[in-house]
Amino acid sequence: CGIVGYVGFRSAVDVLVDGLRRLEYRGYDSAGVAVKTAEGLKVVKRAGKLSALAEALKEERLEGHLGIGHTRWATHGAPTDPNAHPHTTEDGRIAVIHNGIFENYLELKEALRSRGHRFLSDTDSEVLAHLLEEKYQGDLLQALREALKEVRGAYAVVVAHQDLEEIVAARTVSPLVVGLGEGENFLASDVPALLPYTRKVIFLHDGDVARITREGVEITDLEGRPVDRPVVEVDWTLEAAEKGGFPHYMLKEIYEQPWVLENTLGGRLKEEEGSAELGLSLDPLAVRRVHVLACGTAFYAGWVGKYLLETLARVPVEVDVASEYRYRDPVVEEGTLAIAISQSGETIDTLEALREAKRKGARTLGVINAKGSTLTREVEDVLYIHAGPEIGVASTKAYTAMLAAMALLALWLGRARGTLAEEEARRLIREMRKLPRLVEEALEKRPLVAHIAEKYHQAQDFLFLGRHVQAPTAYEGALKLKEISYIHAEAYPAGEMKHGPIALIDEHLPVVVLATEGPLYEKTLSNIQEVRARKGKVIAVATEGDEGIRGLAQDVIYVPKVHPLLAPIVSVVPLQLLAYEIAVLLGRDVDQPRNLAKSVTVE
Ligand code: G6P
Repeated sequence: CGIVGYVGFRSAVDVLVDGLRRLEYRGYDSAGVAVKTAEGLKVVKRAGKLSALAEALKEERLEGHLGIGHTRWATHGAPTDPNAHPHTTEDGRIAVIHNGIFENYLELKEALRSRGHRFLSDTDSEVLAHLLEEKYQGDLLQALREALKEVRGAYAVVVAHQDLEEIVAARTVSPLVVGLGEGENFLASDVPALLPYTRKVIFLHDGDVARITREGVEITDLEGRPVDRPVVEVDWTLEAAEKGGFPHYMLKEIYEQPWVLENTLGGRLKEEEGSAELGLSLDPLAVRRVHVLACGTAFYAGWVGKYLLETLARVPVEVDVASEYRYRDPVVEEGTLAIAISQSGETIDTLEALREAKRKGARTLGVINAKGSTLTREVEDVLYIHAGPEIGVASTKAYTAMLAAMALLALWLGRARGTLAEEEARRLIREMRKLPRLVEEALEKRPLVAHIAEKYHQAQDFLFLGRHVQAPTAYEGALKLKEISYIHAEAYPAGEMKHGPIALIDEHLPVVVLATEGPLYEKTLSNIQEVRARKGKVIAVATEGDEGIRGLAQDVIYVPKVHPLLAPIVSVVPLQLLAYEIAVLLGRDVDQPRNLAKSVTVE
């Protein structure tokens, strides 16, 4: 999660621990450092908080001026001492730190084992140390480039070798930034770690590989061609730096979605078998019905989940707002799986609804972001969404990660239950793998969305419409707008509009319509016609290439084409941005909207 690297004249361990402290806000469950000492590379790592690491470092004082440090948020492998980073080769000559996921680590591990490597942890990250051991011929940067050609996935990695006065690093998707000093240089996953030492930084780009020494920095691409990256002078306060240079946490989190999706999906998709590896103890064949319990944004994720589970796994699903479920004396039949979805894992209504389902004999599963939260301790299985800490009160990245997690679950259940054909599963997996890139493309629509926000930010009301999986997207879009702009917004399944809300439509009403490709596209177009006939202003979210829709809508926001069941993940992005831009224009407190709390632990 947090990475710090140092080479210079100060005590490396002090710089590392101090830097990691400044990244604590990102959350973590273990921490470790490796320092190049007179006796070679020394590693100290501990499960738990940085204070546990600091205690251990009192016992074992690491003297040296070069080192790497990490705070880990467990993905593959529990938060234990051995699974904490840095990871080393058996002889301890190479130490690596890795953020992200090596999707093909199982195959690599297998192959490395057969060539005699012994593994000390359950992590995907450790494979890199062993690969480097094989590739290293005196040039660590070259070895890193070669090793990275064998891994698939997202990463920010930093590496130290006991014979070398340098740190090498590389990134793809996960962020990494170089800090430039005088006679010393730094590396970090985020700027806050660097602020006490330097404000001159280089943001590494995807595919960059860098060598950092006391004197300077050398950056190449994966082929070894030198690349030139600008030195940026950051004038951020600590607070701004924690927001990654974005004016608000919410915007930062919206932009984190591509790598969050990579985190949620990476390593879990098994294309060869056409399934997913979720590590659940639950028997897929014993599931006869599903009750999804959640609040707020998580509830809409559950609603999309219903479509996914019913379509792919053919299991009947009910979705309930947790505060209703807990008091409605629900009928829990044998074979019911209760799925509680929650970012915080602390929402009291969700917890109580889950407890109610449990009392009535349901099997339980949590789809949760916060590690170690109350909910994680009360469910039999957890499917972590791996979105990282979400600070903005209005949920964004946790939502898309929840959707991706529900897609994984539906894929796994569908395959295990034999309702999803292998070919169709493979097609879905290929589409899921594209999601990070497609979301990135959707983010590029921000200038257009800002323009639309400018046009409509004075509106008193908004209506959001969508069908099938895009009905929840409409609701989530309306919720985002309400939450942070305080504009009244209502959402409806598009087909239901004629039964009431159509009376609201006049020339003052902006209507956001989710009109992406899918089996119900034509029907949605008819709904757009109905809005137009009553002079409503249509803002359509449509699939790239759909030229026809321009003639029907005042504004069209194009999103990239994707499998219709996955469309909510891509389409919600412009709606998040729309709410954000409008809230900013209205001068609202985006990160802490009035009357709302990030996690509601009272009834
Ligand atoms: C609060 C937050 C919402 C969130 C809901 C559920 O109302 O303001 O953004 O969606 O709780 O939270 P959870 O942590 O359970 O996902």
